[in-house]
Amino acid sequence: MAAILYDDRSADAYRLARDIPPGRLIAWREAIGAEAALEPGMTVLDVGAGTGAFASALHQWFGVRVLAVEPARAMRDLIPGAEGIEALDGTAEALPVPDGCADAAWLGSVVHHVSDLAAAARELRRALRPGAPVLIRNSFPGRCSRDLRVRFFPETARVVAGYPSVEQVCAAFAPAGFRRIALHSLPQQSAADLADFAGRVHRDADAKLRGLTDEEFDRGMERLRAAVADEPAQSATSWMDLLVLV
Ligand SMILES: C[S@@+](CC[C@H](N)C(=O)[O-])C[C@H]1O[C@@H](n2cnc3c(N)ncnc32)[C@H](O)[C@@H]1O
Repeated sequence: MAAILYDDRSADAYRLARDIPPGRLIAWREAIGAEAALEPGMTVLDVGAGTGAFASALHQWFGVRVLAVEPARAMRDLIPGAEGIEALDGTAEALPVPDGCADAAWLGSVVHHVSDLAAAARELRRALRPGAPVLIRNSFPGRCSRDLRVRFFPETARVVAGYPSVEQVCAAFAPAGFRRIALHSLPQQSAADLADFAGRVHRDADAKLRGLTDEEFDRGMERLRAAVADEPAQSATSWMDLLVLV
């Protein structure tokens, strides 16, 4: 699938609509800690770092240094310039980092943007220390029914059906010596509540929503508004997968 081109407007929309504060990602913090055993001073490669929400969370949670690789300038410019986070221009297929520099790699909502997953796997093998895990957070075909966007915009499942499956990602990474060691479905609080979630939906900021027709999007917004009217404070819990390869 072709990458969305993020310009200044859509990068800003992405940050407002999609960035989740670390406090709403408790299950993710626990799962990453359990799978990657990260310690202060280690280095994490955040590939396709976007506006840096996870780069910040990883740095804040584990005290790690984050090399945040992001090809879109507009997104990269929004990565917080904190000490311990370094924003770099590059792609998964051509990582701008030295051999064996990282203790883990994080790919958040990015595998469906990468045109050559096998090349990305070879680059990750080069950039990671032996035994370092690749942590992939993504929607996968056939596994996305608990995603809030799919609940209200069911046709987004059609878009996700075009993403690489768990099996396809594993097959693309296998020649570089990676094998699957875990697959978790994990919750997050996508917004303070459903009313907050509805107010933050932004079509330009989301490949799934951009894949809908106008009618499908409008019907989804109607469903969402009706659910908010019914119970505005209901939780905005959404689920995504964490695939771990070593
Ligand atoms: C949906 S955003 C996810 C951003 C961030 N990881 C997050 O979870 O919020 C996907 C990002 O991948 C970037 N991207 C697109 N093609 C890429 C590639 N080949 N290698 C690395 N990143 C890529 C896009 O520019 C965009 O910032």
